[in-house]
Amino acid sequence: MHITVIGTGYVGLVAGAGLADFGMDVICVDKDASKIEMLRQGRLPFFEPGLKELVDRHTANSRLSFSTDLRSAVEQSLVIFLGVGTPSDSNGGVDLSFIYEAAKEIAISLNDYRVIVTKSTVPVGTNRKIKAIIDQHKKQDVEVDIVSNPEFLREGSAVEDFMRPNRVVLGSDSSRALAIVKDIYRPLYLIETPFVLTGLETAELIKYASNAFLATKISFINEVANLCEKVGANVLDVARAMGLDRRIGPKFLHPGPGFGGSCFPKDTEAFVRIGHDFGSPVRITEAVMEVNRLQRQHMTEKVTNALEGNIRDKKICVLGLAFKPNTSDTRESAAIYLIKDLLALGAIVSAYDPAAIEEFQRCFPEMQIDYCQNPYDAATGSHAVVVMTEWNEFRNLDLERLKTQMTRPVLVDTRNIYDPAKVMALGFYYDCIGRMSCPSTS
Ligand code: UGA
Repeated sequence: MHITVIGTGYVGLVAGAGLADFGMDVICVDKDASKIEMLRQGRLPFFEPGLKELVDRHTANSRLSFSTDLRSAVEQSLVIFLGVGTPSDSNGGVDLSFIYEAAKEIAISLNDYRVIVTKSTVPVGTNRKIKAIIDQHKKQDVEVDIVSNPEFLREGSAVEDFMRPNRVVLGSDSSRALAIVKDIYRPLYLIETPFVLTGLETAELIKYASNAFLATKISFINEVANLCEKVGANVLDVARAMGLDRRIGPKFLHPGPGFGGSCFPKDTEAFVRIGHDFGSPVRITEAVMEVNRLQRQHMTEKVTNALEGNIRDKKICVLGLAFKPNTSDTRESAAIYLIKDLLALGAIVSAYDPAAIEEFQRCFPEMQIDYCQNPYDAATGSHAVVVMTEWNEFRNLDLERLKTQMTRPVLVDTRNIYDPAKVMALGFYYDCIGRMSCPSTS
């Protein structure tokens, strides 16, 4: 079967390569000619474990190709996947212009029955609008069906998540379209992946409800962590014991500096907007966002407290700029908020990240940061080191060496990667999230 995937970002490229692996003939289309050229040369626009191998394999066997010619791709394909970006707009809603633009372009290229599958995360009602736009702009009297197929990939394990998803959600009014798309996913069906076949609005909502719920778990445990700090409890034991209850589960109960990334902040905001728009507010998610905002602030407070309330002209070393490990993605990363605060309070900031420095520099050229080649250089002369991302590289730092290079031995560990007793035994002032903390400096 011939398939077109529109958009070569995270969602589109992983889907394109994954579908080629399922035996489909896939054309990945993007408007950005330089991106297509890069992909044709075998280079990927972002790093994702396992993706390059998959892309290389299927370009070599001609299952996967790249093009800027949407019209010709649509003419050849029974099924067209939409994986274009849906960024936040300036009012807390979702900017759907890329989606609607793609729908118009598909419409004018239609020459036969087609199934449009939306993978991009879109608010409730969008798929019906896509159908209306296509019906309005199509040049030939051909039928089109729409399927909502939300994506649940995590950055850093996107290929694995595509190949072995917890579930596949397909929403449509058309049983014909559902059968066609289900057939595309047959390899998953064979390994007994659960399929949820449902309506359009339900599928659209499943994606937002899932991300909002995961974000809720994080904000919940962050609040519990803050309470633990007050009562002298250990959040790791609380989370572990909670997670052992199978109804709760252990995942997404790691306290930290607040969730970031390209999905949770955007999707919780959009979910709240959807609730308002339909007159059914999702107040828990509103609170989740507020708790996340406060958690980010709390990180600044921790650093400030560690330096007796005054960080003006103090050198603070930030370890980790990516929103989570194993990615160069810095979108909505907690480090952005911390560094902005530190700079506004007059601190001098140095930073190191194993993968995200270039991206951070590109996104925030206005921030005066001394980017370093390794954690020890970044820590040299600093009054505090703050771990913001739990990269493996930071888990086994030579703390004695770090201490000798610092002006003051202060370590703020926002990911709880260190054992408080061991760090404090080395003479550090150590603070972390929701475990007993030690306000003493040697
Ligand atoms: C998230 C979801 O996990 C995916 O299922 C979903 O498909 C994706 O969004 C999306 O909508 O496209 P992702 O943004 O790649 O995936 O990252 P996560 O691993 O979920 O982490 C998000 C943020 O939460 C990170 O900042 C991470 O540090 C934080 N987090 C996660 C915690 O603070 N505590 C946890 O226990 C888990």
